[in-house]
Amino acid sequence: MHGTYKPLWLDNNGDLEVIDQRYLPFEKKTRILHTGADVSQAITDMTVRGAGVIGNVAAFGVYLLAREYAGDKTKITEQAQIIRASRPTAVNLMWAVDRMLQVVAQSQHVIADCKAEAIQICDEDVLRTQDIGRIGCDIIEDIMQRKALTSFNILTHCNAGWLGIVDSGSALAPIYEAQRRGIPIHVWVDETRPRNQGASLTAWELLDAGIQHTIIPDNTGGHLMQQGMVDMVITGADRVALNGDAANKIGTYLKALAAKDNDVPFYIALPTNTFDFACQNGVKDISIEMRSEDEVHMMRGVDEHGLPQIIRITPEGTKAANYGFDVTPARLITAFITEAGCITPNKTAISRLK
Ligand code: MRU
Repeated sequence: MHGTYKPLWLDNNGDLEVIDQRYLPFEKKTRILHTGADVSQAITDMTVRGAGVIGNVAAFGVYLLAREYAGDKTKITEQAQIIRASRPTAVNLMWAVDRMLQVVAQSQHVIADCKAEAIQICDEDVLRTQDIGRIGCDIIEDIMQRKALTSFNILTHCNAGWLGIVDSGSALAPIYEAQRRGIPIHVWVDETRPRNQGASLTAWELLDAGIQHTIIPDNTGGHLMQQGMVDMVITGADRVALNGDAANKIGTYLKALAAKDNDVPFYIALPTNTFDFACQNGVKDISIEMRSEDEVHMMRGVDEHGLPQIIRITPEGTKAANYGFDVTPARLITAFITEAGCITPNKTAISRLK
């Protein structure tokens, strides 16, 4: 790999170019990030999102800081804290910045070493997602065999595809692998209010890949599971605690409850750098991002002429609450699909990954 990944790459000037995810699925725009401050802003304003990609972009953010401050270790370390704090829940962000700062502390050639390390972090994530794809798809084949299924229905929430982690995604990686293996697969895509990452990003990825899928309003999953129309749920994660509790996009917990009630296997796919070994109890200790009320009040789309519009869908003066994530307790999770294999959601199994 040479610093070119599907959602982000280094341009000819050595700046970081990213797909601006705020405009998908209607416009494929990119944004060039020149400085560490550009990176913090792009993470905060959701130009880039998804735990893995936030970490990847943050790693390059520390490289941009190294360039900006001509290798001044004190300045880089100080400014990197702003990137590290740009979103609170996805632990890949903190993990990537901390790993970059170790390089800064030890290096004699800070700029070159930061660039190499950021590329290395992304390269490792590419391999992680490929392994997740293979291991997850083996589980799909196993369920199909046990239940004598000729086709397979997966439900997913939010976007955990290649827009969320280079280069195959986490939750979508087994789905891409299933397509490569010729398995007839269909994906139920939760729209994922309020920002609609499922309807706008996951649907866009799956359409582009030619994978059969159907967008469903967020409240539909329970009904589908009750009617036997879902063979497996796979989501990604933003932070998983040592006890196996897993934070992911708001609404994931409700899907896990419905899956439990209907005996539908509920898997979370994640690279091992999404485990937070310092966090003992996810439900109690994971910090949940509160986002702007506007994301609930306003909807973005195109009008009948295909022109981008933002419209309000709530009465002026009504209050809205916008919790970005929720935590699914370990007892509702069948297993974690990671590059290190299938992991039981408990402290003993997770501790072995340290
Ligand atoms: O708020 P977002 O869009 O960053 O939330 C993303 C998710 O919740 C994803 O499911 C998660 O980050 C996994 S992506 C590899």
